[in-house]
Amino acid sequence: MKKIAILISGSGSNLEAIAKACFEQRIDGQIKCVISNVPSAFGIQRAKSFGLNAVIVDHSLFKTRDEFDNEIDHVLSKYKIDIVVLAGFMRILGKKITKKYYGKMINLHPSLLPLYPGLDTHAKVLQNRDKNHGISIHYVSSELDAGPIIAQGCISVNKNDTKNDLEKRIHSIEHKLFPKIINDICNEKIYLEDNVVKFSMDKSMQKIYEYYEE
Ligand code: GAR
Repeated sequence: MKKIAILISGSGSNLEAIAKACFEQRIDGQIKCVISNVPSAFGIQRAKSFGLNAVIVDHSLFKTRDEFDNEIDHVLSKYKIDIVVLAGFMRILGKKITKKYYGKMINLHPSLLPLYPGLDTHAKVLQNRDKNHGISIHYVSSELDAGPIIAQGCISVNKNDTKNDLEKRIHSIEHKLFPKIINDICNEKIYLEDNVVKFSMDKSMQKIYEYYEE
């Protein structure tokens, strides 16, 4: 069974969705540790409520990005992690660690990449009066939010939507899609080969996995 690490910085609602899916055996993998770079993150409490190992690696205690990344790597190695899941992890990881885990580290981003890498995606969508918004799940490369895309989930933006409305609906689509993709990666139905995402579950699915709001 694949050993999973989940990296968080905040509320951890995605961590909870993933942990629930593991306990209900909808994910064929085991969460070995949850790492937070923010000591006060609510996600740590969620991790503990599932009986998971919660490790704090407080970025503010490290002089350089490299030293912080090395400590993260140290924890991942200690737990012999196969798959690293960034679920609301708000620190940029450097070249060395992203290279080491290339093909084994995935990120959840709240936009339809390549649109809106970086922060404040909901605000940007509203500002630009976009009709659609969504989430992307991608392999992590050394470039921010730019690695090969595995899956995207799409929502429609309504006229009077606020940032909170979008966040709520984005979360609901994340909680459904992310555990499913993690399970497919655990079962090696999705993998990275020569920088290309491969889907071995279904002949019709040789492109980005897409999911639309019901
Ligand atoms: C999620 O919506 C995720 O897409 C986003 O942070 C939120 C975390 O929520 N990630 C990023 O912005 C990464 N750049 P959660 O802590 O409740 O899972």
